[in-house]
Amino acid sequence: MNPYRSQPKPIRMGVIGVGNMGQHHARVLSLLKDVELIGVADLSVDRGLDTASKHRVLFFEDYHELLPLVDAVCIAVPTRLHYDVGVTCLKAGVHVLIEKPIAATIAEAESLVNTAAECDRILQVGHIERFNPAFLELAKVLKHEDILAVEAHRMSPYSHRANDVSVVFDLMIHDIDLLLELVPEQVVRLSAHGNQVSDSGYLDYVTTTIGFDNGVIATLTASKITHRKQRRIVAHCKNSLTESDFLSHEILIHRQTTANYMTDYGQVLYRQDGLIEKVYTTNIEPLHAELEHFVSCVRGGQQPSVGGFQALQTLRLASLIEQTALDGKSQSCDLNVREVVAAGSSKNSSVVVEDW
Ligand SMILES: NC(=O)c1ccc[n+]([C@@H]2O[C@H](COP(=O)([O-])OP(=O)(O)OC[C@H]3O[C@@H](n4cnc5c(N)ncnc54)[C@H](O)[C@@H]3O)[C@@H](O)[C@H]2O)c1
Repeated sequence: MNPYRSQPKPIRMGVIGVGNMGQHHARVLSLLKDVELIGVADLSVDRGLDTASKHRVLFFEDYHELLPLVDAVCIAVPTRLHYDVGVTCLKAGVHVLIEKPIAATIAEAESLVNTAAECDRILQVGHIERFNPAFLELAKVLKHEDILAVEAHRMSPYSHRANDVSVVFDLMIHDIDLLLELVPEQVVRLSAHGNQVSDSGYLDYVTTTIGFDNGVIATLTASKITHRKQRRIVAHCKNSLTESDFLSHEILIHRQTTANYMTDYGQVLYRQDGLIEKVYTTNIEPLHAELEHFVSCVRGGQQPSVGGFQALQTLRLASLIEQTALDGKSQSCDLNVREVVAAGSSKNSSVVVEDW
């Protein structure tokens, strides 16, 4: 009897673009159970050969040659190329995990979502923070809380990477995705302000305040020019304050138990008791969890938790924030994050510009 008879066939995978991010996709895929990393493709022969030889897989300068050999690919080429490469892979019958943001424009993102549906292929988008153990725990904690306001800070020192997009599309987009997962309500109002400091030609520092129709207020700040790296989300809730640090993977929940002034011999004493709960999280690498999820969706045929549709909604809100910051105006809007994208539709959020 063959002892291996019931083992599933490995999912054959490739990576297209092995620069800063793609090299990590190749590293993690080479470690995943039930995955066979077949090859990598990159226009840079040196970079591609280097990664291919590290993992002892095939190298292709032209990614089209990789496609007939694989079931699925990770695409980590520059954002402006996501659409072309993504659509080509989907039409070749290959499942796709594409890096964030899903595409450079809303129209391209819609077309990618529709192509994936027409070709019946999985389309997952690399909103990696969804798989950060700190976020997973935060989401669990907030399920039982009444959220009033959310603050997010995602600050980085200046670097030459990702200088073909603004800080909204490079960094803030992570927090927009997390926010829409935590508060899946309609966005009714937003204001945004930004600064351009470097010579990239794009905004480097942006702050936005977003109002949801259930009254929740969110303030997101992202920067490429801050001298200390920060990744934090703070949730102000009716019965708690939860601080989560995505770098240290630490979550602190503050609850006030007593808060009173006591009069003692005519003196007013201030007393405030509270307790702090510390939530421990696992040390799982988010990229590992993200790729395992993708592989399991490819194997089981189920839709990923961060599919094209969710990424499209995130891109819509990101575009609105960037445009508002560039215009220096505030917007009343009607952006339904649950809105369904009809095949072939190019429906946008309706926006009323206000001068306040
Ligand atoms: N999820 C995250 O946290 C995260 C972090 C960094 C970057 N990213 C995303 O990953 C993508 C890539 O960013 P990066 O910083 O790795 O860029 P990068 O410039 O370091 O790497 C891109 C690679 O793609 C290659 N390439 C370009 N055109 C190609 C083509 N037609 N065929 C094959 N290879 C091609 C380039 O030669 C380069 O090696 C971007 O969309 C970015 O937003 C995501």
